[in-house]
Order: sequence, then structure tokens, then C-alpha cells
Amino acid sequence: MRTYLVTGGAGFIGSNYIQYMFRKYDNTIRIINVDALTYAGNLENLKEIANRENYTFIKADITDKAAIQKIFEENDIDRVVHFAAESHVDRSIRNPEIFVQTNVLGTAVLLNCAKAAWEQEDGSFKEGKRFLHVSTDEVYGSLEKEGEYFYETTPYAPRSPYSASKASSDMLVKAYMDTYRFPANITNCSNNYGPYQFPEKLIPLIINNALQGKKLPVYGDGKNVRDWLYVEDHAKAIDMVQEKGRLFETYNVGGHNEKQNIEIVTIIIETLQEQLSDTDPRKALVSKDLITYVEDRKGHDRRYAIAPDKIKAEIGWEPETMFKDGIRQTIQWYFEHEDWMKNVTSGDYQKYYEEMYE
Ligand code: NAD
Ligand code: DAU
Repeated sequence: MRTYLVTGGAGFIGSNYIQYMFRKYDNTIRIINVDALTYAGNLENLKEIANRENYTFIKADITDKAAIQKIFEENDIDRVVHFAAESHVDRSIRNPEIFVQTNVLGTAVLLNCAKAAWEQEDGSFKEGKRFLHVSTDEVYGSLEKEGEYFYETTPYAPRSPYSASKASSDMLVKAYMDTYRFPANITNCSNNYGPYQFPEKLIPLIINNALQGKKLPVYGDGKNVRDWLYVEDHAKAIDMVQEKGRLFETYNVGGHNEKQNIEIVTIIIETLQEQLSDTDPRKALVSKDLITYVEDRKGHDRRYAIAPDKIKAEIGWEPETMFKDGIRQTIQWYFEHEDWMKNVTSGDYQKYYEEMYE
């Protein structure tokens, strides 16, 4: 039975990925989820699979070398899927250091431990071992002209502390592949949306605020463009890269779904108005009048757009979920999980929100 070590599996994409993998492979794989449970990690995301015999949760920080080494010593890990990171750009602008710590140093620790466990005496690596580093399109910087796209060959030009830390971690993975022929891949993905996303990010923040009749903060002129991908499509891409991708390659993953932020906010308001029943008291609260233009994000990247041509041609992956369906499913999920939202927005979230927006 193949054993996966998933880092950051209690976060947004990691928890969707683990659920996807168990739906697909059921009892034929084993998953060990290592997560430090920062503000962004939530075991509630995994409560449906928590009691599976082929699932283990370990609370550990990826920068803790001894803890990570122990996991590799005690388990014959076949695949690493590395999600754990500080992931929010606005937080990186306020407090860059933790991004370097987790995203750069944490990745170095993981690479080192995997290398030590997988390397053979002659310097080659044991058969079938693979490391997948989950990265972002933000490493390519900001597109300023219509019709331009990010390709795997686009030079790196990160502009925020978050994207600089992710670019650094990508470079470390590349260095391991070039120097040691360490068996890895990198995926650079566009903006994800879907269930279990923490409401510091645009889509869940707008859904949550709109349902409470709170202001909907739009940065700058609202015309920055992001390329949105449904999270399950991302989970599938990661699995397909590990199954069919050529080792040592980078694959860009994107939704072919570019939208301005103001369009996203408008679509959410219209979808909420459609989906809420007339008897639901929240319906009267949801309104376009809540849209509030606020001070722009510092160094705000104008546009991201991925060309997922390589992953389509080599692996056969392409986005399956249309945005109009994905956003309905996402909103429906937030309707059905009000308690989840209440739990994650209690405590520290209030403090963050006040400091960030007031
Ligand atoms: P998230 O913030 O929702 O989750 C991050 C997870 O990592 C949390 O469970 C957190 O507890 C854990 N974590 C943080 N620091 C840790 C540490 N030191 N040790 C162990 N665990 C730690 O993030 P996400 O949106 O799910 O993103 C996951 C990965 O995907 C990140 O590497 C991110 O850069 C990348 N990515 C995200 C997007 C997106 O749109 N969200 C797009 C492309 C790539
Ligand atoms: O592109 C992939 C990246 O997408 C990931 O690597 C990051 O981990 C993920 O957080 C995301 O980064 P963004 O900065 O693009 O996502 P965010 O949801 O924070 O913002 C999306 C856009 O919406 C961005 O242009 C900023 C804007 N925005 C965001 C918030 C939170 C607003 O206008 N108002 C807001 O309140």
C-alpha cells in the first residue's frame, strides 16, 4: 500500500486534496497528514475521514527537523505532497518573517528529510519515490498587458513577501532536482476557491460579509484580475502530476477563468440573492450597496493568468468545473456550514479583521 505524507492537510486545499484522494483510492492508499494547526489549519475540515484506519494525523511544525525526521524514520513514505505554508498575501505584507520561516525553511527541512530517507548508497533514489511541491502562479509576478500568460518558461518575478517566499522554496526544490536528481515536481497554480477556504481570502470573505450585511471591501479600483480554479480540479491535477507527470518538471495549473475582482463580488451578490429563499432573513441584507472601495493592497499585482497548455498536452488534465457551477456549489456549502464559519471567525479572526480593515 502506497503511503503519502501530506503537509498542511488541515488547510483549505490540503483538506480538499485528502478528501479527494480517499474518494478516489479508498483503502488502497495510506495518508499521514502533518500540520502545525496554525490559524489556517482546522481539523474540523477532516472530521469525515478522521477515523479511517488508513489515515493518521500528526501535529508538527515542518520547521521542526527532529519531528519531521522521526516521521520519515517510522514510516516508509512513498509520496510527499507539500502544501504547508503561510498563504495569505496581506498577512505577508504585515509580517513577512513567518513566511520565510515556514515557506522557505520548512521546505528545506522537508527536502532534507525526504532526501535522507530516499537516497541510496550510490546516490540514486529508491524506485517510486516522489515529492510534489505545491506552489503558486504569483511567483511569475504581475501581467500588465492583455493576452499575456504565465508559462512554465516565464521568468520568476515575485513581488510580495508571500510570493518571494514561495519563489524561494521553488528554487530550493529546483536545486535539489538539479544537484541530486531528487525525484520531484513543482506545480504552480492559480487562485483556488471552494469549500473550507478561510474567510481572509476574497471569495469566502465576501460571502460571509454579505450574509451579515457587512461592507464588502474591494481593494483599489476592483479591476485586478485573478484566474479562478475550483479546488477539486486542483486536487485532481496534483494527483495526475504524481501519476503521469515527468519527474523534474514544473506544471502550471489554471482555470482559464480570468475575472476582475469586482466581477467576482457582483457574481457572489447575485448568486446569493438567487439562492436565498424569500423567507430567509439574510436575503434582505445582501445588496450591491455593501460594495466599498478601500485602500489598495501595497504592491498589488494587476493580473494573473495561467496557460495550462503543458499539463493538458502531457497529462490530459484540464479544468472541469465551470465557474458558474463552482461558485454555486461553494455558496451552497457555506450555507450548509454556518457553524464552520462561526468557529473559524471566532477568536483571533476578529482581531485580524479589525486591524486589517478598520
Ligand atoms: P491554507 O493557509 O488554507 O493552509 C495552510 C496549512 O498549512 C494550514 O493547515 C496550516 O496549519 C499549515 N501550516 C502552516 N504553517 C505550518 C508549519 N510551519 N508546519 C506545518 N503546517 C503548517 O493554505 P491553502 O490555501 O490551502 O494553500 C496550500 C498551499 O497551496 C500553499 O503552499 C499555497 O502557497 C499553495 N497555493 C494556494 C493557492 C490558493 O489559491 N489558495 C493557489 C496556489 C497555490
Ligand atoms: O494566485 C494564487 C494565490 O491566490 C495563492 O498563491 C495565495 O495563497 C492565495 O491567497 C491567492 O492570493 P490572492 O492575493 O490573489 O488572493 P486573495 O483572495 O487574497 O485576493 C484575491 C484578489 O482580491 C486580490 O486581487 C486582492 C483582492 N481582495 C482581497 C481581499 C481579501 C479585495 O479586493 N478585497 C479583500 O478583502
